[in-house]
Amino acid sequence: MSGQYYVVAATSELEEDGQMYVELNGEEILLCKHQGEFYAIAYHCSHEEFALEGGLLQDGCITCPYHGAEFLLSDGSVQAPPAFEPIKIYPIRIEDETIAITTSPE
Ligand code: FES
Repeated sequence: MSGQYYVVAATSELEEDGQMYVELNGEEILLCKHQGEFYAIAYHCSHEEFALEGGLLQDGCITCPYHGAEFLLSDGSVQAPPAFEPIKIYPIRIEDETIAITTSPE
């Protein structure tokens, strides 16, 4: 099943700076729309594993609502402490107004 993409939402379901919880193949994922782009990132912060949902989306980053760690949406890298491990990101495809993601990139 390597590289298999699954449709998880319609693009119309997310407004600008909208967020949506998705579970796929046992992985918890946060779908976000920011600056017109869609991103699929780990649902939980790498600091203390609290949910990133509801975190501020700004300048291409999400800020954890709990202790303020910042992660770049495009690659999951840490931009501000207290987290020091990146979060997982998931490849995403937009086709026919649907959002598809994979948990097993090739
Ligand atoms: S759980 Fe996210 S910064 Fe602490």
